[in-house]
Amino acid sequence: MLVSAKEMLTKAKAGKYAVGQFNINNLEWTKSILLTAQELNSPVILGVSEGAGKYMTGYKTVVGMVNGMLEELNITVPVALHLDHGSYEGCLKCVEAGFSSIMFDGSHYPIEENIEKTKELVKIAAEHNMSLEAEVGSIGGEEDGVIGRGECADPNECKAIADLGVTMLAAGIGNIHGKYPDNWEGLSFETLDAIQKLTGDMPLVLHGGTGIPEDMIKKAISLGVAKINVNTECQLSFAEATRKYIEAGKDLEGKGFDPRKLLAPGAEAIKATVKEKMELFGSVGKA
Ligand code: 13P
Repeated sequence: MLVSAKEMLTKAKAGKYAVGQFNINNLEWTKSILLTAQELNSPVILGVSEGAGKYMTGYKTVVGMVNGMLEELNITVPVALHLDHGSYEGCLKCVEAGFSSIMFDGSHYPIEENIEKTKELVKIAAEHNMSLEAEVGSIGGEEDGVIGRGECADPNECKAIADLGVTMLAAGIGNIHGKYPDNWEGLSFETLDAIQKLTGDMPLVLHGGTGIPEDMIKKAISLGVAKINVNTECQLSFAEATRKYIEAGKDLEGKGFDPRKLLAPGAEAIKATVKEKMELFGSVGKA
């Protein structure tokens, strides 16, 4: 059964480790992530962007697929199904479809409007026993065609949003989605420290988990980050393994590729990436 992310993140913040959010795009990715979480006895969050939700034909399909897998793969570790960077309308659709967690990304609105909309969603999420992630200060880079600048959040605005009763808070601290440029200045631990001092027990979320050096990940966890999002790194490992398989040309005997064989190396590569991240985040054995 899908669970809200509240309990797993409260435990992670108290225990000074982070739960990974791995974004899903199709059946193979989802299966790889769930099997790895079960094997490592780790809690896990499956992230679904609005674009990925559309690609998979809609949120109801995603809920059906994930619930089916939980049962048929005998997954017993805590799993949350979470809308990633949702719009207000997207959040309502996921509540309706049976997600267990939503993110409302109101970071592009003026703070007053972000507060207003987040406040309404806090109420709705509570009525459905769902966790809610809010965002202050946009995360840079490109996510599903949405381009952010990678600003640092204002700690006082973070406190204002945290006080609304959200479950977890994503705050921009110089992080960006996708690969980091060579001249990236690194995470702003000063900002993170100030946010954590003002928001206390609130689990903080680090987006853009791909390509952040290990020492920065560990320091971020020590300063209150309890959820780390990873997407691009799974995409890269999946694509690379698939490319190698195609280049090896094994199934080209006039019949083309068997789709199940074609996608298997990519699925294995995702398992390896997820395992590496869960070990780094410290969530192994914490289910
Ligand atoms: P990356 O694509 O950089 O791993 O970031 C993922 C993310 O933050 C999803 O919200």
